Amino acid sequence: MIDIAPSILSADFTRLADEIDQVEKAGATVLHVDVMDGHFVPNITIGLPVVRSLRKATKMVIDTHLMISEPGRYAVEFVKAGADMVSVHVEADAHLHRTLSSIKEAGGLAGIAINPATPLGALDEALQYADFILLMSVNPGFGGQKFVAGSVRKVRGLRRMITERGLSTRIEIDGGIDENNIEEVVGAGAEIIVAGTAIFGKEDRAAAIKQLLGAGAMWV
Ligand code: DX5
Ligand code: ZN
Repeated sequence: MIDIAPSILSADFTRLADEIDQVEKAGATVLHVDVMDGHFVPNITIGLPVVRSLRKATKMVIDTHLMISEPGRYAVEFVKAGADMVSVHVEADAHLHRTLSSIKEAGGLAGIAINPATPLGALDEALQYADFILLMSVNPGFGGQKFVAGSVRKVRGLRRMITERGLSTRIEIDGGIDENNIEEVVGAGAEIIVAGTAIFGKEDRAAAIKQLLGAGAMWV
């Protein structure tokens, strides 16, 4: 099953309820929320109060991508605020097993996010504890960046690791996805497809989602 996950980072925050209503009606199943602390990444975005409000406004799966230092201090709070999925960066957490376990104990799906220049080997031990891996195909911090070319190969490598180990870990891809590369990343094994600019950067959000889904019509 392929999930389209609009990233609200590129949405109009003054009309957020309307924005998410549009994407939900257009077939998006996951709502991607980028949480940035101005420390792990050079940008500051939104946090717990916004997640609480989103929970009341949508039935979509809420996916919080924590781009924050020491994510273990806050991960469970995001589940309590209504997030269904919480990912923490492998580069930011010295206690991944503890953090992932705490997310699951709180009732969430636990994910590990990994930057473009971090090798897949960094996931070697922790992969078995994660429900999903969020593979970054841009450097985290901003929407609207160019897809990092080696990312397709990385998705393929991760898919191989998961299959070889008999795991059911899902692969999420995030950054620079549009109607021109979505088919390739899905073909390589990505299942949850984050798109910010390719959806909220377009005038008609519903048409943008249909275009993304249409670009891979064979797998929906
Ligand atoms: C970047 C964020 C992404 C971003 C994607 O740090 O993690 O989720 O919103 O935006 P696009 O699709 O515009 O690259
Ligand atoms: Zn993200």
